[in-house]
Amino acid sequence: MSGEGDIPQAIRKLAPGKLVIASHNKGKVREIAALLEGRGLDVVSAAELDLPEPAETGTTFFANAELKARAAADLSGYPALADDSGLCVDALGGDPGVYTADWAETPTGRDWNLAMQKVEDAVQAKGLDVSRAAHFVSVLALAWPDGHVEWFEGRADGTLVWPPRGTVGFGYDPVFQPLGHDQTYAELPHETKNAISHRNAAFKLMEAAVF
Ligand code: IMP
Repeated sequence: MSGEGDIPQAIRKLAPGKLVIASHNKGKVREIAALLEGRGLDVVSAAELDLPEPAETGTTFFANAELKARAAADLSGYPALADDSGLCVDALGGDPGVYTADWAETPTGRDWNLAMQKVEDAVQAKGLDVSRAAHFVSVLALAWPDGHVEWFEGRADGTLVWPPRGTVGFGYDPVFQPLGHDQTYAELPHETKNAISHRNAAFKLMEAAVF
């Protein structure tokens, strides 16, 4: 006999209208807006609405994605989409993971060159023959003002390269070479990265479910 908990919940559809991208990261906003193109949505970012950036107090990608989407939906009164993402390095037991942005923190702001160097130093400290396998994770959370939320998780596997290569993109793009490519995320054109990225993988699941 099945209990109430076994009844599959229908995924809520996203109606055309305003959608807040709950991020102040210009690189992410640009990628998410590109993925949403042609959906009849009036997309606006949290930064454009002057919404505050909530502290990312969660310990999982799911929790942080939800808290960012929840805050933007509550404050704006519109559905809000947030991405929580990070780089997980096999040799570091999955670090920096959910703390990927924190590894870039300095007293004067985020320094991505420093963050990439820290990751490289940590990997090299493990020894020369250590695995350089890594993957990016993206969890998208879509929250509605009435409290409903849906999550979608995507992943992209690849290799950590050194030295950094390329100038396109943001964050750790110059040190991540996706599987099947000989260029890093930062060497690939936007459209190519967008077609293969962890964010795109999460977005495909969202697309199939909510549109
Ligand atoms: P958060 O999701 O705001 O916690 O930040 C995650 C961090 O992971 C970003 O600030 C980037 O440094 C990094 N990150 C996430 N996705 C990407 C990507 O597509 N390319 C490069 N870095 C990324």
